[in-house]
Amino acid sequence: MNSQKVCVIGCGYVGLVTGACLAEMGHGVVCVDNDRGKIKALQKGRIPIYEPGLDILVTKNRVRKRLSFAPSIKEGLKDAGIVFIAVGTPPRSDGSADLTFIESVAREIALNLQRYTVVIEKSTVPVETGEQVEKTIARYNRRRVSFDMVSNPEFLREGTAIHDFLHPDRIVIGVKSERAEKAMRDLYAPLKTKVLVTDLKSSELIKHASNSFLATKISFMNAVGRVCELVGADATQVAEGMGLDPRIGKSFLQAGIGFGGFCLPKDLEAFLYISKKVGYDFDLLRMVKDINETQRAHFVKKIEEAVWILKGKTIGLLGISFKPRTDDIRFAPSLDIIHRLQTQGAKIKVYDPVAMPKAKTVLNQATFCRNAYDAARGADCLGIVTEWPEFGELDFAKIKKLMENAIIVDGRNMLNPTRIKALGFEYKGMGR
Ligand code: UDX
Repeated sequence: MNSQKVCVIGCGYVGLVTGACLAEMGHGVVCVDNDRGKIKALQKGRIPIYEPGLDILVTKNRVRKRLSFAPSIKEGLKDAGIVFIAVGTPPRSDGSADLTFIESVAREIALNLQRYTVVIEKSTVPVETGEQVEKTIARYNRRRVSFDMVSNPEFLREGTAIHDFLHPDRIVIGVKSERAEKAMRDLYAPLKTKVLVTDLKSSELIKHASNSFLATKISFMNAVGRVCELVGADATQVAEGMGLDPRIGKSFLQAGIGFGGFCLPKDLEAFLYISKKVGYDFDLLRMVKDINETQRAHFVKKIEEAVWILKGKTIGLLGISFKPRTDDIRFAPSLDIIHRLQTQGAKIKVYDPVAMPKAKTVLNQATFCRNAYDAARGADCLGIVTEWPEFGELDFAKIKKLMENAIIVDGRNMLNPTRIKALGFEYKGMGR
């Protein structure tokens, strides 16, 4: 294999996973970040995020000397001919992405280019950002070192990011030159998967459109679920029947409390904003967003209907992270749900296998429990917010004894209603 020298700028979620996986593929990688504290921690082997398998991969490749960490772009570009930009693009209040970090990184790259370099945007950015980055680098690139701009969107899911990177269903590269295309093909050659080569803007749009489509699928199913409830049908059965059609596919058809996390809500918002900016009102996406938001209120309403008056009631909640196998609570439906319940005077007891340290920094007045049984003890209702597999393995006969009232509202449809009802619970799912 043709091993290459790569610099990854930004040691956040995307940057670290990208750096560690490229090193695992045999490339020499330097990950840089301007947060010196973070770099020092990484140099000592401490990983700032929770992602299954990432710590092992980082340690293994540090020992092999394929992966190192540095505090400046200058150091990162000393040997590298390929540089990934993986810095944050946080959302502004109007839905647009804040590209301040991208711009300053582009300037830094320009000032430190040593040789022909392929500059790759990996962060999720609005369409046309690649062109802006290219212009910025050209403007500050006083020594006229040649470079090529590439868009290479990531499709990593939190919790399975390492697997997603090393076994992708497609690699999308938006390029302007054959030289850059060859460099990218060589870089990813060990992965042996479909490589789709497009122009720069189409590649950027593939990311917007993919995530917005996934969000649309979820909201569509949630809307179907609302109809199911009204007519007495079961959304999980409807989804199964729909998903057997390969044109539809069975994934992303789980009705529930809606999508959260740092990508889907942000990317949906950004696509809405960009479409409007260029002259198209993508109203469908507004509905997708609205349906998603109403699902949380709907879940709270189900709890309220079950206990009648929320004020003074104890509600046990299982799960805080926006999905299982991550400690990420950014834009997690749980936060909104807890806030709504507390506003109505309910007392919250909550348990999550990994997200509690993060949740403690943002949640007030909730009682954090040692385990799921503790969260159920004395509760008037138990709500399932995140479908951690271990919640499916709980001893529900024991839970029934611990609860004040045996009521379960299953926001993720993860339990078998027949089995739970047979134990004497009142059970409510979503869309069934
Ligand atoms: C997503 C995309 O899947 C990934 O390709 C992209 O790069 C980043 O954004 P991620 O945010 O990690 O990944 O989570 P994902 O697994 O897509 O789930 C997003 C949200 O949708 C979660 O809150 C999940 O609970 C919810 N969801 C998912 C549903 O409510 N129903 C479903 O059927 C599927």
